[in-house]
Amino acid sequence: MEQQKRYGHFDDNNREYVITDPQTPWPWINYLGNEDFFSLISNTAGGYSFYKDAKFRRITRYRYNNVPMDNGGRYFYIKDGDTVWNPGWKPCKTPLDFYECRHGMSYTRVTGRKNGVEASVLFFVPLKKWAEVQKLTLKNESNEVKNLKLFSFEEWCLWNAATDMENFQRNFSTGEVEIEGSTIYHKTEYRERRNHYAFYHVNTEIQGFDTDRETFVGLYNEFADPQVVMEGRPRNSHAHGWSPIASHYIEVTLKPGESKDFVFLLGYIENEQDKKFSAPQVINKDKAHALIAELDTTAKVDKAFAELCEYWDALLNIYKVRTGNDKLDRMVNIWNQYQCMVTFNFSRSASFFESGVGRGMGFRDSNQDLVGFVHQIPPRARQRIIDIASTQFPDGGCYHQYQPLTKRGNNDIGGGFNDDPCWLIFGTVAYIKETGDFSILDEMVPFDNQPGSEVTLFEHLKISMDHVIKNLGPHMLPLIGRADWNDCLNLNCFSWDPNESFQTTENVSEGTKAESLMIAGLFVVTGKDYVALCNKIEELKNGKIDNFNSSTLKSFNFSAEAERMQKAVDAMIEAVKKHGWDGEWYLRAYDFYGNKIGSNECEEAKIFIESQGWCTMAEIGAEDGMVAKSLDSCKKYLECEHGMVLNNPAFTKYIYEYGEISSYPEGYKENAGIFCHNNPWVIIGECIAGRGNDAWSHYAKILPSYVEEKYQTLHKVEPYVNCQMVAGKDAFKPGEGKNSWLTGTAAWMWYTVSEFILGIKPDYDGIRIDPCLPETAGDYTVNRKFRDAEYEITIHPNGQQKGVKSVTLDGQKIDGTVIPYSAGKHTVEVVM
Ligand code: BGC
Ligand code: NOJ
Repeated sequence: MEQQKRYGHFDDNNREYVITDPQTPWPWINYLGNEDFFSLISNTAGGYSFYKDAKFRRITRYRYNNVPMDNGGRYFYIKDGDTVWNPGWKPCKTPLDFYECRHGMSYTRVTGRKNGVEASVLFFVPLKKWAEVQKLTLKNESNEVKNLKLFSFEEWCLWNAATDMENFQRNFSTGEVEIEGSTIYHKTEYRERRNHYAFYHVNTEIQGFDTDRETFVGLYNEFADPQVVMEGRPRNSHAHGWSPIASHYIEVTLKPGESKDFVFLLGYIENEQDKKFSAPQVINKDKAHALIAELDTTAKVDKAFAELCEYWDALLNIYKVRTGNDKLDRMVNIWNQYQCMVTFNFSRSASFFESGVGRGMGFRDSNQDLVGFVHQIPPRARQRIIDIASTQFPDGGCYHQYQPLTKRGNNDIGGGFNDDPCWLIFGTVAYIKETGDFSILDEMVPFDNQPGSEVTLFEHLKISMDHVIKNLGPHMLPLIGRADWNDCLNLNCFSWDPNESFQTTENVSEGTKAESLMIAGLFVVTGKDYVALCNKIEELKNGKIDNFNSSTLKSFNFSAEAERMQKAVDAMIEAVKKHGWDGEWYLRAYDFYGNKIGSNECEEAKIFIESQGWCTMAEIGAEDGMVAKSLDSCKKYLECEHGMVLNNPAFTKYIYEYGEISSYPEGYKENAGIFCHNNPWVIIGECIAGRGNDAWSHYAKILPSYVEEKYQTLHKVEPYVNCQMVAGKDAFKPGEGKNSWLTGTAAWMWYTVSEFILGIKPDYDGIRIDPCLPETAGDYTVNRKFRDAEYEITIHPNGQQKGVKSVTLDGQKIDGTVIPYSAGKHTVEVVM
């Protein structure tokens, strides 16, 4: 058989993915920045930067849906005699003598060689800085003196990424820049209400510049052959309106063997209202000067880079496994955790599939992302929980999304997704189990960000549960609202109008009956968590601590609340057993008319994954064999070569009563795509049921490093991260991946492997040990930092899939499987 083409490989020692051919089957990207200033960067240096919010504070321009697809970015043009080339191959596409792109933890290094010159660019956002560093190293590897002409290039976005690509009658007249030495400032709209500007600087003297795109590129040229570069002569253009850019021109002479560094800096500055100007029309550059001074030498930049690497070392040292299986270890120790941080930061806003203008932070998405991230930086997770809860309404419903810059709920999408509230319990419980910090429940959190409306976070959790209880349908199952987790199951939207949005139209809400089994399972899982939380608080109140400040919580009867919720959970379990079971699997929903969805009686889509995942995690009817049957049905009907599909068989026609789900062609997205996000639900169901072999075989099918070969050509998207969707068995091209990076898959894969497969589960009082493994698993060790403790836990599976026989802590056998928390270093031996 023909050797399959490879575009790259993992380098575990450096925690990098190394791309060796620029023409990957799709741009393979990375993310820079960890808190405020962010960039997306492709393997050819395409992409863009923004401050906090990809919609409202876009710093550089990027055109989605472009031809070629990834066009525009931070480009360095090197003119060596008549040859013009870029270190990342694009946009000139001059064939290189060597090309390599190394995507690492929040940095990317792109290296190209041509005609005896090597150009290597390190891109990263230093910690706590609002700037992207681009350290370019030019090296003469030839025997002759090289006289090079170097041009940098960035194109400014006029801040609001949405209006930037639509309101041209205005945009073409507003652009403004200033030039000072080697710094080009972008100050569009600064004269009016904006208090922020950006700049592009280089730490050397320049021999020219350009700031007007038409002058630089030429109206009939392209990024691949900008006229200024082709002619080797800058025009020192000053943009007034049209499209402002920033390009430095530098003449570089390199002796044989000589190398030079250039530090380019793309920065963002905010000024106080009364300090905006230093003279009429002249922006106050004090903060820019200060920022530049912090990063204007190779030594300073190298130090900032070392700090970034240490930061990632520390983050990735919190949970570390050694199984001896490189493919598993690299995902657990590096890439899965890295993707979790990225999804936590971006939710579903900005990727090469999400334009950054459509969606802010999702309520359910962010709560799930948190579970993948909370062990890394708990204080940020804490803040996120409060931000999310602040977009809730007094009735427990909530905005489906909010904007990261303003933290306000997004009115365009609104609310009414009835699974949303439950996720707040999911996220908060994970946070408390990780940290032991119950005080978060005592935080005063507003409704819809309205000052004066604050109640404790605990009350937000309570009304979240109540929102489900108060919205039950004819079978006493949860009403679905606009949709549940499956945004496309729009059972109260009957639409024949293509101009209507499936997700915001709820045109048959009067007397609505549509109910969701997915929410039923989710309610049982989070309801049990809620009950356990209440019981734990009661225990703490009576015993060790009583640290609540708010009077509501001081006097609240948590055990009565636990009892009340347990009854609701029990009732839900009964409702599912009675009305939610189809014989071999759980139903998916009841439609508006009370007809079954996801039943053997249905013509298409007889079985759906979501309710199998949630109801097996909730162990509903386990004693009657329902869980085992449901899991077997997943294997029988949903599983295929690349994972489990969302529903089977796929819808072949549009169904008016179902909404967006049936709008997708067979095998794609929510219509029988392999939605990687919900495969872990079934895998966890398998783990809880103790079926380690099955859990593992499902898991390995969607584990990027296990299917790396497929990624190279079939999957197409980045082989180092999960994608939201892989085309399912009914698709025209099964196995093709889409929507990489920003997906709940990251957090769910992490939750699955770290807590349910490897079995290291944070709990209120310590760490619960409960692995579920394939019979073939060998001994392995997990190093886990937990609060102020550090555990080295070695597990001896002895061919068992499930069941811990003994736990020895620092040489002493303990009762049960929870290692009681105590600060300091500990060694744990576990025998299964
Ligand atoms: C997609 C969903 C997505 C939703 C967001 C739908 O078109 O299929 O996956 O969550 O849009 O608005
Ligand atoms: C993507 C959305 O971000 C997520 O919230 C949703 O649950 C899935 N699509 C499924 O529709």
